[in-house]
Amino acid sequence: MIELRKTTMEDRKRAYEWLYHSDFSDFLNKLPGVKEEEIPSYSEFTADYEDYFFNGSHPEKGRCYVIVCTNNGKEEDIGIISYTSFHLRDKITEFDIWLKGNHYTGHGFGTKAIQILTSIVKGLGYEKVIIRPSKYNKRAIKSYQKAGFIEEELKPEHYYLGEYIPQFSDGDYGPGEDVFLILSL
Ligand SMILES: CC(C)(COP(=O)(O)OP(=O)(O)OC[C@H]1O[C@@H](n2cnc3c(N)ncnc32)[C@H](O)[C@@H]1OP(=O)(O)O)[C@@H](O)C(=O)NCCC(=O)NCCS
Repeated sequence: MIELRKTTMEDRKRAYEWLYHSDFSDFLNKLPGVKEEEIPSYSEFTADYEDYFFNGSHPEKGRCYVIVCTNNGKEEDIGIISYTSFHLRDKITEFDIWLKGNHYTGHGFGTKAIQILTSIVKGLGYEKVIIRPSKYNKRAIKSYQKAGFIEEELKPEHYYLGEYIPQFSDGDYGPGEDVFLILSL
């Protein structure tokens, strides 16, 4: 069984470790468009994933959750999922997700976590979710499609607030290197 638990500040360091120092990090860090020398330090990660993601002080800007798996009565924290909205137009939010290691992938856990967060953000009043995986991250794309996301051509002005278009419209991997997926709620 998969559930989401609101993060606390204590979860931020392990969220960083799970993303940048797990056994799938090499795959993510070597994706075209990612410069290995630019892999963030923990303090750089905290500049991106500010306190509010972990302590819930600005839910209108975004929030992280721990993905919790219960199996035979034993609970285990297995990953992180977040929504982020500060850079997007009204009623649109963006998801990010990573499990804590390859062992946990491929069992439907990530897809289930996305479905749960989808219903949370729908309850918060959002109408669209976007997500932008690398076009080479086939497992992530498949998972998001299973959760109902569909590919669309990105028109930045339809999604991003004007002041954030220069910073975000190319995505994390550079022009043409990601897949723009949306889910209408
Ligand atoms: C992306 C992620 C959250 C997805 O969660 P998950 O629990 O692994 O997803 P699921 O098991 O529900 O679905 C994965 C699907 O991809 C498929 N898949 C795996 N490798 C694949 C590949 N190379 N090509 C195509 N499909 C692939 C699986 O078979 C599965 O589909 P199925 O259920 O039809 O068999 C998880 O894999 C993860 O944390 N990966 C590492 C971090 C990451 O890439 N984060 C995303 C950044 S955008």
